[in-house]
Amino acid sequence: MTLQILLLNGPNLNLLGTREPGVYGSVTLDQIVTWATAHAQTRNAELQAKQSNHEGALIDWLHEARGWANGVVINAGAYTHTSIALRDAISSVALPVIEVHLSNIHAREEFRHKSLIAPVCVGQICGFGWRSYLLGIDALLGHLGALGQPI
Ligand code: DQA
Repeated sequence: MTLQILLLNGPNLNLLGTREPGVYGSVTLDQIVTWATAHAQTRNAELQAKQSNHEGALIDWLHEARGWANGVVINAGAYTHTSIALRDAISSVALPVIEVHLSNIHAREEFRHKSLIAPVCVGQICGFGWRSYLLGIDALLGHLGALGQPI
């Protein structure tokens, strides 16, 4: 069975590449999606990526994912720190969700230390730049039991 992954990106992540490269790196979102898609394929999984600057669109996509996805990897951007609605959507859909961030949110401004979505996600990966996304995919597939057992 091919597992289906929804990769969600929230506000301002469409600007990756030019947005604060000292913090987020110089890789574009298109490049990250290309690498994440290829990475998922090596694990026999399919990935669909969506980005929106609008909270409601992210919530709608989470609701729709109930119909087709086995799990979700999300970088909710600043909504991580503000959105009770997004948190409620994650806990409502009953899909495993992995939270990812390019930067180490715990090493930045205090208002970024708190993630409202972390308690309803399987776990959080942050601080590894674009590799956080690949680690997030592996974390999800491992959680789903799709990576096999260690020797
Ligand atoms: C981010 C961290 C958030 O605090 C910030 O608002 C973002 C990006 C990250 O990937 O490091 O937009 O989610």
